[in-house]
Amino acid sequence: NIVPVITLDGPGGVGKGTLGRLLAHDLGWHLLDSGAIYRALALAAQRAGLDADNETALSGLARTLPLGFRGAADETHVLLGGEVVDAEIRTPEVSALTSRIAAIPAVRAALLQRQRDFRRAPGLVADGRDMGTVVFPDAPLKVFLTASAEERGKRRLNQLMEQGISASLATVVAEIAERDARDQQRSVAPLRPAPDAKILDTSEQSVSDTYRVLQSWVRSAF
Ligand code: C5P
Repeated sequence: NIVPVITLDGPGGVGKGTLGRLLAHDLGWHLLDSGAIYRALALAAQRAGLDADNETALSGLARTLPLGFRGAADETHVLLGGEVVDAEIRTPEVSALTSRIAAIPAVRAALLQRQRDFRRAPGLVADGRDMGTVVFPDAPLKVFLTASAEERGKRRLNQLMEQGISASLATVVAEIAERDARDQQRSVAPLRPAPDAKILDTSEQSVSDTYRVLQSWVRSAF
């Protein structure tokens, strides 16, 4: 596949979503928010009353999930069966369920091609956990973002507040840490940098500082 891809992987609250949207917008490329796919699946599972350990039913649901995306790179909406579920997929309950469901190998296999289908001209920016390691291993530019759990908790708390969801910093940090641990320790597609990924620590950097570094890497890669 000659369509260029930039992968942005890293733990929760690290800024992948924000940076991915900026980059896709400025390049005029497509955007894949792979976390939204896993989240929509978790929401559908919750609504169907499926347990996180019902692997057969969950992978069946993953294959038939009526998922849609609407809008351009800088403002996308996630749809489940035609319903906009932007807020519903980001609650703490759904976040926790998502990382449990995302650890199931058959679920990941069922969602693989759906994610690869986003690779269309003129290019794709893909954000997630395994974009560089599993989904697009041939991507010419792979970036792995990191930041301290405390800093990521603050960022996630701000995002939640913007959506009108209230929570305490301690709770958010604990939830993120638990989710990271699950994402790092799972047997299939664990959260880790691809061997050829560039590492970017954003703890002490503003979004615009980080974005400038990213842009310089993009200029030298393409
Ligand atoms: O990126 P986001 O926080 O929306 O991802 C939610 C969860 O979905 C992650 O904690 C992870 O368990 C799962 N996920 C994944 N692989 C991806 C993207 C997300 O396992 N590529």
